Amino acid sequence: MRTVVAVSERVGETPSTVTLRFPFDPPADPGQFVMVWVPGDDELPMSLSYTDGTSKGVTVKAMGDTSRRIQAIREGDALGIRGPYGKPFDLAPRRILVVGGGSGAAVLAPAAEKARALGASVTVALGATTRRELLFADRFRSMGATVAVATDDGTEGDRGFVTGVAARLVGETPFDAVWTCGPEIMMRKVLDAAAPRGVPVTCAVERHMKCALGMCDACALGPYHVCTDGPVFSGVALAGVPDFGRYHRDPSGRRVPF
Ligand SMILES: Cc1cc2nc3c(=O)[nH]c(=O)nc-3n(C[C@H](O)[C@H](O)[C@H](O)COP(=O)(O)OP(=O)(O)OC[C@H]3O[C@@H](n4cnc5c(N)ncnc54)[C@H](O)[C@@H]3O)c2cc1C
Ligand code: FES
Repeated sequence: MRTVVAVSERVGETPSTVTLRFPFDPPADPGQFVMVWVPGDDELPMSLSYTDGTSKGVTVKAMGDTSRRIQAIREGDALGIRGPYGKPFDLAPRRILVVGGGSGAAVLAPAAEKARALGASVTVALGATTRRELLFADRFRSMGATVAVATDDGTEGDRGFVTGVAARLVGETPFDAVWTCGPEIMMRKVLDAAAPRGVPVTCAVERHMKCALGMCDACALGPYHVCTDGPVFSGVALAGVPDFGRYHRDPSGRRVPF
């Protein structure tokens, strides 16, 4: 579906991150994304951070010019939406470790919420540069998840990367699944920590996109199109892709190291 909606609510989540809620009827599952745009401007893929009912949402971190212009939208302003697209999370596992870095929590929170509603236990390893940038920590706590934190500057939780917390938790607890979203280098490290212990990993991958329909090749990752084969991939599928966590493609399609 392609439409233009009026934003119903704008919530500042962290100093760099804003949630926009909007009326949008098509059914969607956690892990799926929409293409969003300010009318007349470029589109960006954004995970649905709220997937239920008619009030959906996206949670946008300020990165470049386009995401800043989308963030600047006010309540009542127009927002273009097309989708939803992509493969969602499998919500079957019972003991789940969620590992989120930066804006990665945007796609993990609704998946964890649905898994909790289905009876799963959820432990969250949440990372950010600093305390005030921890995204959805209270949302995870209020769904009954146990939350462990790492910040680069040590203002909350462990000082350092969230991958250290994730590796410790995977060593301590017999999880059925690890779900992760964040910088690709982080996800690659999570995969490398969990795979030898036989814990299946699922990664929500973010790559440059144009069509979101599997036609333009902008989001190519090894043999996959992230837009249609993902963005939610099994670690088994990604483990054999040499570029995962090492190289990405810029908007012109050039392969560049992370
Ligand atoms: C399936 C999917 C879901 C996504 N969901 C979300 C979401 O829920 N919330 C959200 O804020 N963003 C999400 N993104 C990322 C988003 O689409 C844009 O890539 C991001 O907002 C930057 O766009 P920009 O044009 O503003 O910045 P650009 O001008 O493209 O980049 C500005 C700077 O940020 C860096 N950068 C760009 N993209 C990323 C990235 N993904 N990770 C790390 N650094 C990056 C660039 O290298 C550059 O230094 C998602 C992407 C995909 C493919
Ligand atoms: S964005 Fe065009 S093929 Fe994926």
